[in-house]
Amino acid sequence: MDNKKMNSTGVEDHILDVEHLSMYFTTKNRGKKSTVKAVDDVSFYVKRGETFGLVGESGCGKTTTGRTIIRLYDPTWGTVKFNGIEISGKMDRELHKYITDHIAMIFQDPIASLNPRMTVQEIIAEGLKIRGVKDPEELQKRVIAMLEHVGLQAEHASRYPHEFSGGQRQRIGIARALIVEPQLVIADEPVSALDVSVQAQVINLLNKLKQEMGLTILFIAHNLSVVKYFSDRIGVMYFGKLVEMADSNELFKNPLHPYTKALLSAIPEPDPLNEKKRVKLHYDPEIHHYGEGKQPSYHEVSPGHTIYCSDEEFEEYKKEWKA
Ligand SMILES: Nc1ncnc2c1ncn2[C@@H]1O[C@H](COP(=O)(O)OP(=O)(O)OP(=O)(O)O)[C@@H](O)[C@H]1O
Ligand SMILES: [Mg+2]
Repeated sequence: MDNKKMNSTGVEDHILDVEHLSMYFTTKNRGKKSTVKAVDDVSFYVKRGETFGLVGESGCGKTTTGRTIIRLYDPTWGTVKFNGIEISGKMDRELHKYITDHIAMIFQDPIASLNPRMTVQEIIAEGLKIRGVKDPEELQKRVIAMLEHVGLQAEHASRYPHEFSGGQRQRIGIARALIVEPQLVIADEPVSALDVSVQAQVINLLNKLKQEMGLTILFIAHNLSVVKYFSDRIGVMYFGKLVEMADSNELFKNPLHPYTKALLSAIPEPDPLNEKKRVKLHYDPEIHHYGEGKQPSYHEVSPGHTIYCSDEEFEEYKKEWKA
């Protein structure tokens, strides 16, 4: 299957193509139905071998995007292609196997996501067992190798999750996700529940494993400072929409969408003098947008740098970018 796509920079190899993805939840409150557009017309792609950072504030739809990609939810609308193969269509056993064989998810909360009644050995071996590995010796060998890969030790295999620190539990979560050798890892805020001192260790571990195992990572985070240093490209989400997407350097150098600017202005400056001068921008969609009633869509201001806006807004953004 041909999953190479041409753009103005040449041939690109996409592992994931998300097109107009929408996930609406219908909730009932005292008999009254309402719809939450958790993800609304979101399009982005992830290149093979890169780390793509998906950022935005709480409730903007990051987790729902990840969960819809791996089909924990059935999308309301839109398509997702993995290696050029549509994985958003009718679910059957074959498709389920294809998704779980190649895409793994690391969850935000390393405590809630590990079964407290299972040993580390059982937790990590589960994915292999599902794939038909039955020989206990082989299972043990592979679990121990994986434990060592994530910086834990063989003797940890017989212990239970509560015997570990937060950072160690997240290492167990990573080992569980990676034992099946996925191509794509969706890491949903894998460090936000950890102490700041441990966050860097876990991020470094993910980077190391990415190199060693040839992974592609979709990294979900709250703020831009976490993804700044190790994302090749970044997508910014606001209220169910992906408002801006660009190479990391480009996004930090030439942010155009007012929400991206607000997110950037929230990053503290290491230099106290600069920090004193930092102006925290506030994003208000009522003030920042015009062309009322006009449907926004994706516009590309430079290769790979896209903004979700109206045609009129795009003219302004183009001028700003050139300036
Ligand atoms: N199963 C569900 N049923 C109904 N509404 C949901 C469901 N899951 C998420 N939502 C709603 O969809 C929106 C997006 O939620 P989501 O968890 O994807 O956000 P998020 O960006 O991951 O937030 P956080 O940074 O807090 O993890 C929120 O308004 C949330 O309340
Ligand atoms: Mg989330």
